[in-house]
This record gives sequence, C-alpha cells and structure tokens, in this order.
Amino acid sequence: MTSSSSEYARIVDLPAHAGRSVRVRGWVTHVRSSGKVAFVVIRDGSGILQVVLVKSTVSPESWERFGTLTQETSVEIEGEVRLDKRAPGGVELGATSLEVEGPSPGDYPIQPKEHGIDFLLDHRHLWLRSERQRAILRVRAEIEQAIRDFFYERDFTLVDTPILTAAIGERSGLFATEYFDEGNAYLAQTGQLYGEAAAAALGKIYCFGPTFRAEKSKTRRHLTEFWMCEPEVAFNDSNDNMKLQEEFISFIVARVLERKQKELAELERDVSKLETVKAPFPRIDYNDAVKILQSKGSEVKWGDDLGAEDESLLVEGADRPVFIFNYPKEAKAFYMKENPADPRTVLCDDCLAPEGYGEIIGGSQREDDYDRLLERIKEEKLPLDAYGWYLDLRKYGTFVHSGFGLGLERTVAWICGLPHIREASPFPRLMNRLRP
Ligand code: 4AD
Ligand code: MG
Repeated sequence: MTSSSSEYARIVDLPAHAGRSVRVRGWVTHVRSSGKVAFVVIRDGSGILQVVLVKSTVSPESWERFGTLTQETSVEIEGEVRLDKRAPGGVELGATSLEVEGPSPGDYPIQPKEHGIDFLLDHRHLWLRSERQRAILRVRAEIEQAIRDFFYERDFTLVDTPILTAAIGERSGLFATEYFDEGNAYLAQTGQLYGEAAAAALGKIYCFGPTFRAEKSKTRRHLTEFWMCEPEVAFNDSNDNMKLQEEFISFIVARVLERKQKELAELERDVSKLETVKAPFPRIDYNDAVKILQSKGSEVKWGDDLGAEDESLLVEGADRPVFIFNYPKEAKAFYMKENPADPRTVLCDDCLAPEGYGEIIGGSQREDDYDRLLERIKEEKLPLDAYGWYLDLRKYGTFVHSGFGLGLERTVAWICGLPHIREASPFPRLMNRLRP
C-alpha cells in the first residue's frame, strides 16, 4: 500500500528494530486524541502496540484517516520504533503514515462490557479476538504441543485413526450417517480400538484427534465434539498405565507453567494450584472411594459409576490429580480387562483433576482373553460382525496392553481455570450449538 521501503515487522519483534522505521499491520483496539496528538492501540496477534501520531509530523491524509478509525479497523502503519519502558511490550511506534486496509463499521458487537454467554457464543468468530480468548487459545496450543513432544521424546509412533467407523467404542450417544451400501457409519467416539491394532504393530503408539459423542448432557464438562489423545502400549499393565498418565499430566502442566505465564496471568489463574501437580498422584481403589464418599454423606452405592459431585468430593483438598481405580464392570466399557483379584471389577482408572474439574482421563488395561471379550461383546449386544477384526487381535498373538484417553478441552479448562468447557474450544460444539 505505501511506497515506502521499510520492512514489515510483527509487534512482538519490534524491540529488535528500535531506532528504525518499520511497517506494522493489525487491528485497532483503542483510539484517543488530544487534537494535536493521537494514540492508536493495535493488535496483530503477536502483541499490542501503542502508536503515536503527531498532527504536525504526519501528512494531512494520514491525520484524516486517523479520524475514521473505529474498533477492529485493520490498518497499516509506518513509523519509528522507540523504546519506552511504560508502553505495553516496551516499545512505541512514532507514526509517519497510516493507511486503512479494511474499515470496520462502528457497530462492532463485542464491547468492553458484560455480554451474555449466548450472545458471545453467537459471535464466537469475533469473540476470539478478545484478550482472554486469545490467552486460552495459546494455552491450548501449548498443551497440544506438549502432548506431541511428550510422546515423540518417548519414541511413541503417532497413528491417525479413522473418524468414520463401523465399530462403537463407548456407551455414550452416537452420531450416525448413511454410508453408501455399507449401512450406517458412526463418527468415532474414540480411536482406541484402532490404536490397539496399531500397538501390536508398533509397540507404543498414540492417536490425537477429534472425537464425537451425541451427549444429551448440558453440563460444564461435555462437548459433542472434543479432542482426545489416546496412547496405547503393548505389555503395559494397569499400574504401568497409571504411571504413564501421571508423568504425562505432570509434563503438560510443567510445560504450560514454563512457557505460558503471561497467558495464565491474563486468565487470573492461581498458578500455585498448578505448581504442586507432580507425579506420583494418589491412587484410591473404587471400594475405598465408595466408603470415603459415604462417609462424606454421598448416597453412592457400590456398583454405581461416580457422578460429578462424587468426583469433586474425592479430590477435596488434593493438590494434584487423583486416580480412582478398578471400577465395577457394569459401570465401564466392554473392552476393559476383568480384574483377576475381584472379577466384579475391571482393571481401569479415572484420573480426576483437582479443584472440582472432574475426570480428565479414562484408562484401562484391555481384555486380552478372546473368549471373555467375545462374551462381553455379546452381553453388551454390540454388533458382532463389526468386531471381528478387534477379536483377531486376541486371536493372533494376544498381549497384555493398556492405554488411556485424555480429553483435551477438559484439560485446557482445568489448567486455564475456566468455569465451563465451552471456552476451551475455538468453535465449541454443544447440543444446541452448531454455528458459527
Ligand atoms: O473415559 P472415556 O470415555 O474413555 C475413552 O474414550 C477411552 N476409549 C479412552 C482410552 O482408553 N483410549 O473418555 C476419555 C476422556 C474423558 O476422561 C474426558 O476427559 C474426555 O475424554 N471426554 C469428554 N470431553 C468433553 N466432552 C465430552 N462429551 C467427553 N467425553 C469424554
Ligand atoms: Mg470415562
């Protein structure tokens, strides 16, 4: 747009350009003027920059354009980078010219005032530009990177599992879609069953992608589309599995603390509650959990799955996540291995986040006995023809193996201290929300 030869720079990189002229592009967040001197604050995704325009030193056209700026106008500004300790980011730009890239009508919907949550979600595409939402997205991206780094450093192979499936993984609701002459295809609720096949090929694998559940629950913890990271390890038993989980979670939290302090501060997260998250985590047998809950006044009975309130009671006072292990068979999925020490239960665990965030991981040792697995598939009235391949894994060289699924958005909600999971996803999918 300008004929100048100054190079473009991102706001975050400006300190290195001190004393030189650069061009910066971004969106206007604030403007104010004293008549002779004007201030424009712009955001470019990398940082926030205060720009100063002095009427007597810019062209009349630039000064006039300044008068048209509204919130979210996109602009290109050329100027000199000046170090200034008081300015956000430690620099200020002394403008020499200002061009408007794209105007923004003065009715930008998101204003610095209280908006209702439905309004904000209807405007999610714009809400993302606000400081708090940007901080959440950055923490989420860091967590995803930490997940990949953790497994890469430990020599796991990433295996991408299908989203269109014939086999059902979990008990919760299914999204079905017609699939040519093959009947119904279901959107994957989990990549696990395919991960088990891959573990027999590669030893240690993980998958990480979107999963879908037609959950009819409107809670602070449920999305209909969420991302799940699912490692699967050949020859790991349930104890090894919990060990991997506590190392994994500790790694993720440490990474966010190391690299995302600014974002956590923006979110007003009490980081002292994250600094204590270090392996090992306490482990409570399901039988003991029921006794603890009853002693705290819960009406839970042996055999029940644990609800959100029970989960909160169990982590009361805990300074790190807590494992509840070996649940009753009826409360859990068909593929979990029967506990040889108590066949009413299965070798599994739920990892509960502290501060009432509830289950962030579900994991288990898998049933590796062909006949018992077949029995469980029949008991659950699952379509046998869709599980032939899964049974094959027990027919050709069956093996002890375990794995787990970490829900990304629940982890983000916990680490960011969000009251509701919907803010943990850039475009959350809820029962009553499919747009934007
Ligand atoms: O406990 P879940 O259902 O376990 C599985 O899907 C296993 N196949 C995992 C495995 O062993 N490979 O789900 C795992 C995690 C939960 O702990 C939770 O964090 C998250 O996935 N999750 C949800 N997150 C958001 N919205 C929902 N509706 C969720 N359902 C599960
Ligand atoms: Mg679960």
